[in-house]
Amino acid sequence: MILTSYLQWKKLHHPVLHEHQTELWLRYAPGNNPDISGNKILKLKYQLEQALQQKSSGLLTFGGAFSNHLVATAAAAAENKLKSVGIVRGEEVDLDNPTLALCRSYGMQLIRVSRDFYRGRYQQDILQQLGDQYPGYLHIPEGGTCEAAVQGVSELDMCATPDGPASMLICAVGSGGTVAGLIRGSETTPVLGIAVVQDQSLPEKIRAFLATDRNWPEWQLIQALHQPMYGRFDQQLWQFCLSFAEQDVQLEPVYTGKALYSVFELIKAGKIAKGSRLSFFHTGGLQGLKGLAYRGLIPGADPRQ
Ligand SMILES: Cc1ncc(COP(=O)(O)O)c(C=O)c1O
Repeated sequence: MILTSYLQWKKLHHPVLHEHQTELWLRYAPGNNPDISGNKILKLKYQLEQALQQKSSGLLTFGGAFSNHLVATAAAAAENKLKSVGIVRGEEVDLDNPTLALCRSYGMQLIRVSRDFYRGRYQQDILQQLGDQYPGYLHIPEGGTCEAAVQGVSELDMCATPDGPASMLICAVGSGGTVAGLIRGSETTPVLGIAVVQDQSLPEKIRAFLATDRNWPEWQLIQALHQPMYGRFDQQLWQFCLSFAEQDVQLEPVYTGKALYSVFELIKAGKIAKGSRLSFFHTGGLQGLKGLAYRGLIPGADPRQ
């Protein structure tokens, strides 16, 4: 089993990088449980601390049928001897899919709800209802994104690679918390977020985490350049992910692989200056590979072998 999460930095090798004289470093977050690795461990750090401090009964959070965040919350709760509840989008979802089975193996209680109910998950009446049903549980938003999560991510030093200062920090963007953390954690290094979801309100959501009383480093959000629809990928993108296996780098095509593919497109198009040293946050999400195999979207080998 390869526990890439033990690594802190890994330099990628690829003919495109060589040709364009660009260095690309993958930044890993510390941690030894792959189900909580990547951005998850950082996003949950302060929320867990809060739950433990205020002696919460457990963690209650929200996610879709294949959510990396649900798994990470279940695993983090179990490690800290807290109970966990996952509110799952869709009454019809299969509780035996690899993601939800993994959540259950960590002791998470899964409640499937209608899409209508799920849409209203942050409304006062629904929060109240959940509060009555699960008293004393700390509520964690979908994707884990909140002020505490951004603070946790901001503490990851992405700027100083083993070869010297990075010229740009990069990550995949879903709910925006991770990229907001990278912006907060950077003194002057520019940050590039690559959105793998369609959400017009993302820039606003990111800005909401950046206080207006100071100057932030330059940051930019672009839509993934290839297969921009959330969750979509093709053979080309999947083969791109697999092509790094011989360097012991595992990627999945929904977040990290899709974002990295865009980075390579930018490099090939000459949009990243020669001599750049890029620092790319490997945000984890590898449990998702089993869900893709379960749905027949990729071949079925265990990605962690
Ligand atoms: C593997 C992976 N990478 C990146 C992200 C995007 O992070 P954020 O939602 O903070 O933008 C997610 C979503 O949580 C994720 O699961």
